[in-house]
Amino acid sequence: MSKAEMPFPSVLITGSGSYLPEKVLTNHDLAKMMDTDDEWIRQRTGISQRHIVGDDELTSDMAVHAAHRALEMAGLTASDMDGIIVATTTPDDTFPSTAATVQRKLGASQAFAFDVQAVCAGFIYALDVADAMIKSGKAKKIVVIGAEAFSRILDWNDRSTAVLFGDGAGAVILEASDQAKGWGILSSVIFTDGRFRDILYVDGGPARGKVGTVKMNGQDVFKHAVEKLASGLDQAIKQSGLQENDIDWLVPHQANVRIINYLQKKLKMPDEKVVRTVSRHANTSAASIPLAFDEAMRENRIQNGDVVAFEGIGGGLAWGASIVRIGKPA
Ligand code: UT7
Repeated sequence: MSKAEMPFPSVLITGSGSYLPEKVLTNHDLAKMMDTDDEWIRQRTGISQRHIVGDDELTSDMAVHAAHRALEMAGLTASDMDGIIVATTTPDDTFPSTAATVQRKLGASQAFAFDVQAVCAGFIYALDVADAMIKSGKAKKIVVIGAEAFSRILDWNDRSTAVLFGDGAGAVILEASDQAKGWGILSSVIFTDGRFRDILYVDGGPARGKVGTVKMNGQDVFKHAVEKLASGLDQAIKQSGLQENDIDWLVPHQANVRIINYLQKKLKMPDEKVVRTVSRHANTSAASIPLAFDEAMRENRIQNGDVVAFEGIGGGLAWGASIVRIGKPA
């Protein structure tokens, strides 16, 4: 059979890892820094605390910790990797990519490396790109990492945004397999609507001569989030060939517990099948989904063969969803 006639391989998730910085900032800590209180933050968002990077800690450092743990779970080493894709909005530097630094720190000398910038949807976008690269035969093993030092782009005088975000990293290992039909990434959908770029953005960048801080119209983002995530999930489920009741787990972007609850209801999922980390991690943007996923994997909640729905939305607006059967056939 020629390469062109070969069926697409399955793209399996065979390992996960995550990392949270040591420093924890609680709502009570924030109440000492600005005009806010624990009750408001918990009621409106479900957040109680967030992790914050150390002064010398970089996005690439967190990404490397998460990648090491994911490689270990998959039983692979960095030199086995063909590619590294880092989803981040808070790169170490404007360039080179954070992924290039991660490649150096991991010693993954065979791997191409690049960043994907789709803010809180970054992990879904990176997964989608990696899936396409593996299915097309460009690579067999890719580590996809979501890593963010979001605390570095917050205005600590703006209570409407500063209380919402945190730092961290999560990673998954993707591997090609020709022996695993019906396993791995079953569907993946990504969308962008740039007409809404101004409801969630950073007022900085090379053209402005400063890094800038997050600006958000929370209510507008909230309305788009519930509507767009629901339709994104619908499309991902449809494309996967499965039914809503085949989904074992919802591992959503962790921005606001009220958005998560809405999607839980829509999918008619019981409480124990929805992974919630927002109370302890807050919104870690591109890191939030793989962080939540890895936590549920390591607690042996998500099992080999379970079907997981991932979804995320953020600045752009950019959003997406994917349906994945986790692990590999025995
Ligand atoms: O990952 C990217 C996706 N992002 C999201 O999904 C965020 C989506 N949006 C949200 O989660 C919610 O809109 C927020 C949590 C950001 C805000 O909740 P809300 O229920 O929409 O509150 P609001 O913005 O309408 O503000 C209500 C009140 C205002 O006071 P007044 O005007 O009613 O007197 C705010 O000034 O709450 C006030 N407020 C605060 N009070 C105490 C805003 N931030 C705070 C705060 N502490 N931190």
